[in-house]
Amino acid sequence: MFEAMEKVLERFVVFEGLDGAGTTTQSKLLASRLSDGNIPYFRTFEPTDNFIGLRIRDVLTKKITTTPKALALLYAADREDHLENPEYGIITALAEGKTVISDRYFFSSLAYQCVDLDFEFVASINAYPYPEALIYIDTPTDACMSRIEGRGNPAELFERRDFLEKVRRNYEKAFANLPEAVRFIRIDGTLSPEEISQKVASFLGL
Ligand code: TYD
Repeated sequence: MFEAMEKVLERFVVFEGLDGAGTTTQSKLLASRLSDGNIPYFRTFEPTDNFIGLRIRDVLTKKITTTPKALALLYAADREDHLENPEYGIITALAEGKTVISDRYFFSSLAYQCVDLDFEFVASINAYPYPEALIYIDTPTDACMSRIEGRGNPAELFERRDFLEKVRRNYEKAFANLPEAVRFIRIDGTLSPEEISQKVASFLGL
């Protein structure tokens, strides 16, 4: 059984999706909507650009190599720091009354790390509180791959069609059995960024 703490953090909004799904664009669009409405917010992402997240990026860009298990532990450690760090953590921002928008959270670990590792193991190292709102930008793998290829950067570790197909299936498992208090929406990632952003806004009651 998936044993994440059934604690739900209010005003915590998470975007999830495959590489190329459009989560970064949407988290930025939501941030500017909140800014226009004078709603205090903190926009953030995982892997972070803090000390553990930067090591993860070295693995993603293939500068260094490690094992799937070590990488899973790094993502979980980056997440612990991201949540709890007293200076820049999510919990601190929430306590200051901000809405927190995160581009990825532990659902990414369940989807990506479970391609190579056992679901129970990945879930056990990710017993973190749930967000109040979870937005899944559901974009077909082919569309993601053409967006990734269109960026012209060298492909990162997980940016492969066969891998992303498996990630897409794992996301379904990650979203099964969410606690009732978590509000979940799946949005068609082939819609225009504006249409998606509008759906996000109505979902959040903005
Ligand atoms: P991504 O948000 O796509 O970063 P970028 O801004 O560089 O496109 O995340 C980087 C990669 O890390 C992406 O392939 C998803 C992967 N990932 C995991 O495998 N597990 C995790 O827990 C997280 C947060 C991300």
